[in-house]
Amino acid sequence: MVICLAQKKCRLTIRRKKPMTNNIAPLIKFDTDLCTKCGICAEVCPGRVLVQKDRDSFPEVAAIEVCVSCGHCVAACPVSAVHHEAYADGSVTPIQRQLIPSEEQILEIIRARRSIRLFSHRPVEKTVIEKIIEAARFAPTGSNSQSTEFIVVQERTLLRKIAELTADYMLRVISQSPNPVTRTVYRMVAGQVKKVVIDVTSRIRTVTSAVKNGQDLILRDAPVLLLFHADETTGSVQANANLAVQNATLMAEAMGMGSFYTGFVVGACDGDTSIPTLLSLPEGHKIYGGLGLGYPKIRFENWVERLPARVRWL
Ligand SMILES: Cc1cc2nc3c(=O)[nH]c(=O)nc-3n(C[C@H](O)[C@H](O)[C@H](O)COP(=O)(O)O)c2cc1C
Repeated sequence: MVICLAQKKCRLTIRRKKPMTNNIAPLIKFDTDLCTKCGICAEVCPGRVLVQKDRDSFPEVAAIEVCVSCGHCVAACPVSAVHHEAYADGSVTPIQRQLIPSEEQILEIIRARRSIRLFSHRPVEKTVIEKIIEAARFAPTGSNSQSTEFIVVQERTLLRKIAELTADYMLRVISQSPNPVTRTVYRMVAGQVKKVVIDVTSRIRTVTSAVKNGQDLILRDAPVLLLFHADETTGSVQANANLAVQNATLMAEAMGMGSFYTGFVVGACDGDTSIPTLLSLPEGHKIYGGLGLGYPKIRFENWVERLPARVRWL
């Protein structure tokens, strides 16, 4: 939608060029009655789409074809003089700085968050899931593609089927693997780092036979499975989804919910078409992340140490 200002108020510097990847280049306009020529919009623009020739000039659109509609120009303008067609009325909101948590609060929630695999029977309200998705959609994305889409699975028979299809896939993988798959992990034991080799094959056998016996070691009887998917032809989709997952995880924690990353399910979705087909995943899309969600049955009382950060300062 093109934002229309009264023509006399607008100094239009518009160039419509060749279409961007998925839509036509956006329109950016400046309200010269409001603009103070501070130049922040041009300075903050990551793609040098906007320029300000000198301190006495209004900003201009110099390279609309490289605009990724990140909205930095709109968000940074102190006098609301920048109008970008991707950000119509109602899509720009003043930041409430007093609501932003302190560094101690951020670090405490990051440390307090653990994978929750024991869920209470309390039903999860739709509004809670919506808020978790709201946090996820604000994660950064490569070239501001906002590629991540979501599927919320709550139907119990569907959840059960997903766990079973995952178990079937995992069994197929280990039966085709010539050697036992092993994995080396490092664990902190009494302050010392210990190297541990895990036999993934036997772990998978334990998980899959439990599922066959009605014990859900894949979805852990989570009442909600939140899947993150995207068109695989878009760039950075995996990284985009991972960042969305982490936002969702922290929001879930903040709302008293528990979550765990459903790596087995994501792996099965990647290696086999059964679950994507069951969920009618759009053509060309892949699942890049998954979270089991629900109200936790138990609460962790302590946070435990992690490996010290291995850092090289150069
Ligand atoms: C890529 C990835 C895949 C994972 N897959 C599973 C999984 O399939 N099932 C599970 O219960 N936990 C899974 N987890 C959770 C990890 O086991 C967990 O994050 C790790 O042990 C650290 O514990 P914490 O999350 O409580 O801090 C996965 C985590 C990641 C990042």
